[in-house]
Amino acid sequence: MAYCILTIVTINTINKYDKIERKEQVMDHKYIIKGGHPLHGEVVIGGAKNAALGIIAGSLLTDDEVIIENLPDVRDTNVMLEALKEIGASVNRIDSHTVSINAANVEAVSIDDEYIRKIRASYYFIGALLGKYHKACVPLPGGCAIGSRPIDQHIKGFRALGTHIQIRNGCVQAGAGDGLHGAHIYLDVVSVGATINIMLAAVLAEGRTIIENVAKEPHIVDVANFLNSMGANIKGAGTDTIRIRGVKKLHGTTYAVIPDQIEAGTFMCAAAATRGDVLIRNVIPKHLESISAKLLEMGNTIIEYDEAVRVIGREVQRPTDIKTLPYPGFPTDMQPQMSVTLALAKGTSIVTESIFENRFKYVDELARMGSSIKVEGNVSIIDGVETFYGASVNALDLRAGAALVIAGLCAEGFTMVNEIGYIQRGYEHFEKKLQALGAAIELVEDRREAMKFRMRVG
Ligand code: EPZ
Repeated sequence: MAYCILTIVTINTINKYDKIERKEQVMDHKYIIKGGHPLHGEVVIGGAKNAALGIIAGSLLTDDEVIIENLPDVRDTNVMLEALKEIGASVNRIDSHTVSINAANVEAVSIDDEYIRKIRASYYFIGALLGKYHKACVPLPGGCAIGSRPIDQHIKGFRALGTHIQIRNGCVQAGAGDGLHGAHIYLDVVSVGATINIMLAAVLAEGRTIIENVAKEPHIVDVANFLNSMGANIKGAGTDTIRIRGVKKLHGTTYAVIPDQIEAGTFMCAAAATRGDVLIRNVIPKHLESISAKLLEMGNTIIEYDEAVRVIGREVQRPTDIKTLPYPGFPTDMQPQMSVTLALAKGTSIVTESIFENRFKYVDELARMGSSIKVEGNVSIIDGVETFYGASVNALDLRAGAALVIAGLCAEGFTMVNEIGYIQRGYEHFEKKLQALGAAIELVEDRREAMKFRMRVG
């Protein structure tokens, strides 16, 4: 009998990983693109990946049902949902963008999942499990290789709330035997992840928590609003200081994730770079202000509506300078996409990456397409060129991959973007949305399929 149960469990585990594995195989596919088609039409933006990841972890904080709407169907969110199932939560997909989660039967606080190691947001399980169960064992996070990406500020916050933490065998082992208590925490670095993680741990802690020098991104506010919809008492999200009064219990909720600021910005750059005319729908224009401002400085036309923004690309675009900063500054997650747009402007632009120390890796790939960019430390000097030429390039991280797709849309001839698994971590149906805007792009498994595409589109 025992043998039989073990076999069933093993088969289930294999099936689960096999499902993700099959997705993994899809991740190794490629995009083949024939450039030269300005984008025209309308695109609808999905839910914000970086808000959804914190919200999925936050659903652990109650024993009631949590329904999350406008959830992006991307690899990172799906990996997080798989991990919830692995520790005993029930996860039911109501439709492709709505999921019901119930953590009442969670039986483990240890998440050891090889896929979890590949994503950054696994660290949110530490804050949520600590907040609810006062203990957690979670693999150190993975994610895009754009810098060292330590989690010392997360650990600083958890320790201040009364947690003992050690790192063993690549996992963060955390425990707060007699529960968490409120604290006054000053973040040495403005950190999105640490801000969200400490909020997750503090909402059920005894007493008041003040977190200073916090990140103010839209997704921080969204996670705080989600937790408050469950009965948490969080004030100040979106400002430099967040104040939390711990509550005894949180109840269920139905919550819709905000639109993805970075997906929207990516399509804004694609419209401008291809000299197209695109209406980008389901956005919050205020979240896009820094991106709109830069595209306007370059001479493009931006028309704002209540929940949409229209971008009309100017034929000859002016250079401008970019410095990435925490919100409301120019977002680091838009740096590669904006750099590609600047690389086709007439003149020289300077881009300063002040958030991550290694976020210019795409420059070597872009050079294969004819760009002229010099990188000196955390500054890139972009000399605009007339055009790009198609080439085979590798997506080295999520946003770099999206930037190379934009480059391929603008290039003469065919571009193959390899390793698109990175792109599918954060963009849902990226090629389908671009096809609907007139792009000649296809997801292919191998070179043979790519050749068929080239023969077909000529
Ligand atoms: C989040 O990463 C996003 N990821 C990133 O988006 C985004 O680039 C980043 O915030 C900045 O906006 C998710 O939300 C899953 P940070 P995170 O903590 O939380 C340093 C994408 O493309 N730091 O705000 O890891 C850190 O090294 C991804 O969607 C510490 O020193 O970013 C970095 O230099 C890429 N100690 C800076 O702070 C810490 O404990 C900002 O990092 C934490 C961070």
